[in-house]
Amino acid sequence: MKSSTVIAGCMSWGQWGAKFNTQEYLSQIKKTLETGVYTFDHADIYGHYTTEEEFGAALKLDPSLRSKMQIITKCGICMLTPNRPLHQIKSYNTSKTHILSSVEQSLTNFHTDYIDLLLIHRPDPLMNPHEIAEAFSILKKAGKVKHFGVSNFTTTQFSMLHNLFPLEVNQIELSIVHTSPFYNGVTDQCIEKNITPQAWSPMGAGKIHLDAEDEKSRRIVSMANILGEKYNASFYQILISWLMKHPSGVIPVLGTTKIERIKASLDAHSIEMTNEEWHMLLRASNGFDVP
Ligand SMILES: NC(=O)c1ccc[n+]([C@@H]2O[C@H](COP(=O)([O-])OP(=O)(O)OC[C@H]3O[C@@H](n4cnc5c(N)ncnc54)[C@H](OP(=O)(O)O)[C@@H]3O)[C@@H](O)[C@H]2O)c1
Repeated sequence: MKSSTVIAGCMSWGQWGAKFNTQEYLSQIKKTLETGVYTFDHADIYGHYTTEEEFGAALKLDPSLRSKMQIITKCGICMLTPNRPLHQIKSYNTSKTHILSSVEQSLTNFHTDYIDLLLIHRPDPLMNPHEIAEAFSILKKAGKVKHFGVSNFTTTQFSMLHNLFPLEVNQIELSIVHTSPFYNGVTDQCIEKNITPQAWSPMGAGKIHLDAEDEKSRRIVSMANILGEKYNASFYQILISWLMKHPSGVIPVLGTTKIERIKASLDAHSIEMTNEEWHMLLRASNGFDVP
């Protein structure tokens, strides 16, 4: 799937953040599309199972928007919430029945007849890859889902399913403060198998910012500001470009609800920091040089 250069994460658009009303959703969607970002990241659970439906209510007001965007959504986590009174605890469900019914609900919520990309949200200790592959095949054949992937999967979990059904994406936590995918084989596997790593929480879930007080964030912001001077860029753009420099072709899933930040992140693509500068930021994060 050819997504936009960055993806608009919608986790914080509704009850888990900005609490947009329908008109505000509509405006946010239109302004995001105007920036050139056309891929929107959802999950069934966002806003305790309400954000998909709220986003869909905005799409219903202007159905022409659907063909201008890609919708990603996820399934497999069962949350404990009054909106799902049958759930007794938080758990995972990656059964064929659950995947199929979750997708039907997402299609209804978005007022659409297809999802662009479906991800299994978290690896489930009870997952049966044969059953997931069967569900994916049914959805693909019916045209209800165009592309498939997973999220937060280790390399072996990924291979187990990929060997039965072709996956295109592993959406993982990746940022200057969460670099383990560079070392645990996940981004290596993405390169090897031509899989796109989508990076969630690319700004460390908002923990790295100009006013951050912890030592590590201060080191990162200070280094990013030095590079920002050189490249005439904000520290935010430098941190996005740091992710984009990785040869695996990282696509950041932005959590910001600020249109100007979405716009700015696109310019990060043209910053060409050197290998040494990339390592200077890594050192700022680690607090020590590479061995
Ligand atoms: N697959 C998964 O398991 C998973 C897990 C978590 C999230 N996700 C996806 O990833 C998306 C992004 O996650 P995230 O929200 O944790 O991402 P993030 O981009 O790391 O953090 C977003 C937060 O950072 C703040 N922020 C961003 N840039 C800033 C800047 N320059 N200065 C100050 N604050 C800044 C934002 O505030 P403003 O809104 O004010 O800019 C927002 O509060 C979610 O929307 C969701 O779609 C996926």
